[in-house]
Amino acid sequence: MRAAITAVGGYVPERVVTNKDLEKLVDTSDEWIQSRTGIKERRIMEDGTATSDICVEAIKQILVKRNITAEEIDLIIVATVTPDLVFPATGNIVSDKTGAINAWSFDIGAACSGFLYALETGSKFIECGKHKKVIVCGADKMSSIINYEDRNTCIIFGDGGGAVLLEPTEDDSVGIMDSILKSDGSGREFLHQKAGGSLKPASHETIDAREHAVFQEGKTVFKFAVTNMADVSREIMDRNNLSGEDIDYLCAHQANLRIIDATAKRMELDDDKVLINIQKYGNTTAGTIPLLFSDFEKRFKKGDNIVLAAFGGGFTWGATYLKWAYNPET
Ligand code: COA
Repeated sequence: MRAAITAVGGYVPERVVTNKDLEKLVDTSDEWIQSRTGIKERRIMEDGTATSDICVEAIKQILVKRNITAEEIDLIIVATVTPDLVFPATGNIVSDKTGAINAWSFDIGAACSGFLYALETGSKFIECGKHKKVIVCGADKMSSIINYEDRNTCIIFGDGGGAVLLEPTEDDSVGIMDSILKSDGSGREFLHQKAGGSLKPASHETIDAREHAVFQEGKTVFKFAVTNMADVSREIMDRNNLSGEDIDYLCAHQANLRIIDATAKRMELDDDKVLINIQKYGNTTAGTIPLLFSDFEKRFKKGDNIVLAAFGGGFTWGATYLKWAYNPET
């Protein structure tokens, strides 16, 4: 028995922040941002809203599409680095807000690879026969941990995310076929949040030093991302005897257009197979892959070979190979 994605949902807030808007905050330009990253604009949530709200909106769409109730959900997993609270888990809050009273829930923190980690975890609960309906969310309110005076990071990130429903399938021709996940914690020095954890709790000093925001050494992260995302994508293709022609779509973490292009090149994919929405949303961390699903779902057909790939803080990275399980709604 395999796990298959049987419905998807996605959500971004209304408020658009363009590159031109950021020109007013930091010394940057629309031309610089677009040429280095591919990003034109990103969405930013209002104060008083949180990551759980992204998940709730996405789950509501899934319940309508599959015509099921929240009570039928067995498990909710939320991948995020911007939980509503340090504890309890955002998953607990999402299950309360959606009325998923029979679900247990927890969070996974694997930064930009979080959705792939959560998808693998959720699919195992289906494969072993324990659960019938598992919701996997990837969502981040990155604006809550961005310093809008730091041009190295504020241009990259945005808010948003989505969710998928996993259900068991006896149909051998569809479902989650394989995945390769990796981590190397020595990469933490290049991408992290300095304060707010048990190592360095919040204090006046940490606030003054803006240590509750993302710190990134962009060039180093770029080098690791470009190599590892391409390598792991090639590895999953080789392990499953897939050529570039066999693959219908690449859904890669949207961190930087140049990283995605390098991965697609290593996979020998034509441009029309590489799904891109970074220009609209920037990097939404755990949110990028479910947001691709929700934007491009109508293109997918039952049996399509899709490769998911991600790289992020940790470092964490991985690739998942799946065969799409349903035809788009007509
Ligand atoms: N606008 C204008 N100039 C900027 C800038 C901005 N927003 N940000 C940095 N610069 C400047 C730098 O200060 C540097 O100037 P210097 O040469 O005078 O020191 C110059 O532009 C080049 O900076 P550099 O960091 O080398 O640029 P880059 O080509 O590596 O692009 C990133 C920067 C962040 C876009 C790129 O490194 C990247 O995408 N890294 C990976 C990010 C990522 O994927 N993170 C998430 C992991 S999932």
